[in-house]
Amino acid sequence: MNRTVLGVLVSGRGSNLQAILDAILAERLKAKIGVVISDTPDALALKRVAGFDIATAVIERKKFADKRAFEQAITRELGLHHVELVVLAGFMRILSSEFIGQFAGRIMNIHPALLPAFPGLDAQAQAVRYGVRVSGCTVHFVDEGVDTGPIILQEAVPVAEDDDEHTLAERILHVEHKLYPRAIGLYCEGRLRIEGRKVLIGEKR
Ligand code: GRF
Repeated sequence: MNRTVLGVLVSGRGSNLQAILDAILAERLKAKIGVVISDTPDALALKRVAGFDIATAVIERKKFADKRAFEQAITRELGLHHVELVVLAGFMRILSSEFIGQFAGRIMNIHPALLPAFPGLDAQAQAVRYGVRVSGCTVHFVDEGVDTGPIILQEAVPVAEDDDEHTLAERILHVEHKLYPRAIGLYCEGRLRIEGRKVLIGEKR
C-alpha cells in the first residue's frame, strides 16, 4: 500500500510533529513525512527531524511582498514533495481561503480545546478563566474559519480546580500526542468522509 505523504506545517516547539514521527517510526502510522515547512527559522520542530531523511523548508512571511506570495511558496514546496495531506502542527498563521481551496478536505489541524468551545489563541487559558470542569483537544479539517472546520476526533481532559494554563496545557498535550496520529491514520486508511459539518468514520477495510 502506498503511504500517504504528509506536509507538516510548524512554527515552534513541534511536539505534535514528534508524536507523528514517532508513530511512523513505530509503524503505528502508515504515512510518510514528505516535508516539514516552518515559518520561523529557529523552530525547535526543525531540529526534531534533523538526522532523518525528511526534507525541511523555512518559508518566512517577511520574505514575501504579501500573504499570497508567501502561501504560493508553501504550495510550491508541498507540490515539490507530492504532499497529499497538509498537517498543521502548531502553525501560527491563518491560511487564506485560496490556499484552503487548493487543499479542500486535505488540511488537518489540532486545537487544545473541545471545539466549538475556546477557539483561537490561548485556548487552555480561556478554559481555565471560564472555569470549565472538562476541556480537551480536537482534530479537525480546516475550513475558512478559525478552528471551525468539520471535527474528526475529540478527547476530553479533566480540569482541576488548581490548574493554571500551563498545567492544563501539559495534560491536554499528552492527549494531543495520541489523538493526532490516530486522526491522520484514519485519513491514510481512507476512512474519513466529510458530509457537510460532519466527518463520517468508515470501517477498517
Ligand atoms: C498545540 O497545543 C496544538 O494544539 C496547538 O499548538 C500547540 C503546538 O504545540 N495548535 P507543538 O508545537 O506541537 O509542541
